[in-house]
Amino acid sequence: MEFVIASHNQKKIREIAAILGTLGISFEPLPGGAPEPEETGPTFEENALIKARAACALTGKPAIADDSGLAVDALGGAPGIYSARYCEGSDLDRNAFLLRSMEGIPDGRRQAWFVSAVACAFPNGDALTVRGECGGEILREAHGAGGFGYDPLFWYPPAGCTFAELPAEEKNRVSHRARALQKMKQALGEYYAEQ
Ligand code: IMP
Repeated sequence: MEFVIASHNQKKIREIAAILGTLGISFEPLPGGAPEPEETGPTFEENALIKARAACALTGKPAIADDSGLAVDALGGAPGIYSARYCEGSDLDRNAFLLRSMEGIPDGRRQAWFVSAVACAFPNGDALTVRGECGGEILREAHGAGGFGYDPLFWYPPAGCTFAELPAEEKNRVSHRARALQKMKQALGEYYAEQ
């Protein structure tokens, strides 16, 4: 069985492809020019489902989508589902905005979570959703050049560095996205066993 990866974010696609590769799941990209559905859901799960269903409807093939983001405890879970739209501009602008939003927050209260909801939509209308999370802390300045998005600000205590300083293979072993896709592999195994 081959799955369409329902994403337009090249850096995210690279990570999903690498993780699915290690999990032994075959995949193909969305056709070029495929429209991006509006993420109107109130949760990561619902937005992942919107993307997976749109790609499945377009291609007629089962489709896997990730909706992900950063939830900062001291900001009441923000930016959350709005992580990609936290402010206008680039990842750099959003990182600067996050740092400004957290200026008064002391060390010890800078706990944050990366969240990834992964949905799989099937042509018969069935769907599966799972969630992976990874905990860390938000630093006061960026470190590292790898990864994407908020990675340079996300200190990952088990590795003693930020996600942007972790080698890609290591991030793809421990990240929220890796955890969600591992769960999706399990869910797919159970789904096909029931068919
Ligand atoms: P989405 O494409 O709507 O799911 O938005 C995901 C956004 O969350 C990205 O644009 C990043 O800002 C952030 N994000 C999600 N996963 C990661 C990650 O692994 N590292 C850093 N930022 C991430």
